[in-house]
Amino acid sequence: MTEENDVPCLEGPFSQDVESVLISADEIQDRVRGLGRRIDEHFAGKDLLLIAVLKGSVIFLADLMRAISIPHEVDFLATSSYGVSTRSSGIVRILKDLNEPIEGRHVLLVEDIIDSGHTLAYLSRLFRARNPASLEIVTLLDKPSRREVDIDVFWTGFSVPNEFVIGYGLDFNQRYRNLPFIGVLKPEVYESIS
Ligand code: IMP
Ligand code: MG
Repeated sequence: MTEENDVPCLEGPFSQDVESVLISADEIQDRVRGLGRRIDEHFAGKDLLLIAVLKGSVIFLADLMRAISIPHEVDFLATSSYGVSTRSSGIVRILKDLNEPIEGRHVLLVEDIIDSGHTLAYLSRLFRARNPASLEIVTLLDKPSRREVDIDVFWTGFSVPNEFVIGYGLDFNQRYRNLPFIGVLKPEVYESIS
């Protein structure tokens, strides 16, 4: 049991780099379960393929899959990362393409966070050209204030303010993905690197 003022999830090796907890592990789990139910209803009776964008989406995908009860398959795609910067270059490179064709299938793209929108704008164009039966997007997080390109997002877990967030799959410089919550990274951490 913890005192009311304690932040029980702010423990562990990275706690000194976290400014604040934005979304707790419990809040994430509740929301992911809700998203699973909506996906069940929307895709009932359809050939559903979840496509996760590596690496940030893997933890969200792992929980989301288990919140979905209809049969489905998964595939993975990797795009270029930010390197050690906290800003998107706007240039998207495919590092690893899908294993399977998506023609005629109902595709749900699973993303960790939409920031400028460049990554998803590019991927939507790429996938539409492969003629799926449908193509929708589910993102755990959205930073609407940073959008540079319009994106049609079907489901969003949470809207977040314009801060660099880490945890639950999201990294800075490949670290912090294992935090069970979504937290704000202390600016001095990225200012010291980038
Ligand atoms: P976009 O192309 O600018 O929309 O960037 C999308 C990608 O940038 C996401 O899939 C993340 O991998 C990464 N990203 C954007 N904002 C953050 C953040 O606050 N924390 C960690 N990664 C982020
Ligand atoms: Mg990503």
